[in-house]
Amino acid sequence: MSVREYTPIDRLFMGFDSAVRTVFGRPRVTERTDPAQGLPEVELSEAQREHIGRLMRINHSGEVCAQALYQGQSLTARLPAVRAGMERAAQEENDHLDWCERRIGQLGGRKSLLNPLWYGASFSIGAAAGLAGDKWSLGFVAETEHQVDQHLRGHLSEVPLKDEKTRVILDRMREDEMRHAALALQGGGAKLPLPVRLGMRLASKVMTKTVYRV
Ligand SMILES: [Fe+2]
Ligand SMILES: [Fe+2]
Repeated sequence: MSVREYTPIDRLFMGFDSAVRTVFGRPRVTERTDPAQGLPEVELSEAQREHIGRLMRINHSGEVCAQALYQGQSLTARLPAVRAGMERAAQEENDHLDWCERRIGQLGGRKSLLNPLWYGASFSIGAAAGLAGDKWSLGFVAETEHQVDQHLRGHLSEVPLKDEKTRVILDRMREDEMRHAALALQGGGAKLPLPVRLGMRLASKVMTKTVYRV
């Protein structure tokens, strides 16, 4: 079977389709099932449900950003050696998006109202990183995934042990993010300069604080 070569216009329409699906619709997921499926729902206090629902809202928005970063990057980066791997990673981010959304619903929470804004900003950053060259764009993915990992560990420390449904999702996401980071580094990702890493941390702090409320 021959592999279809997409034109820039094709890619633009495909990008638009993913943006709409990510923010407003159902993402295209992989064959994997939701790891929380079948696990029992445990008794949580109202305050706990509310808090965990908001943490999952943050994770959901983070996954909206991840999706946008990958899409922006795929528009501008060349990535000859790792394109297939990066496309699979982007699809796995859709699984995360889907699992987080389902868990938010089960906890009675809602998604961030600002997701279109996060998508737009992250898409631009991804596209800019792609233009800077593959080693930087892959380095950017690796750094993002490392920061997401630290952030997920923080959330795991706040979710009660008995809430297995939430924890199993966070654990599985962590495993995936570490694999995505390794893939990006193996593909030639460079370590980002310290000011960039610090800027990314600051941006994610502002975003998580905002999303917890909005
Ligand atoms: Fe993810
Ligand atoms: Fe990831």
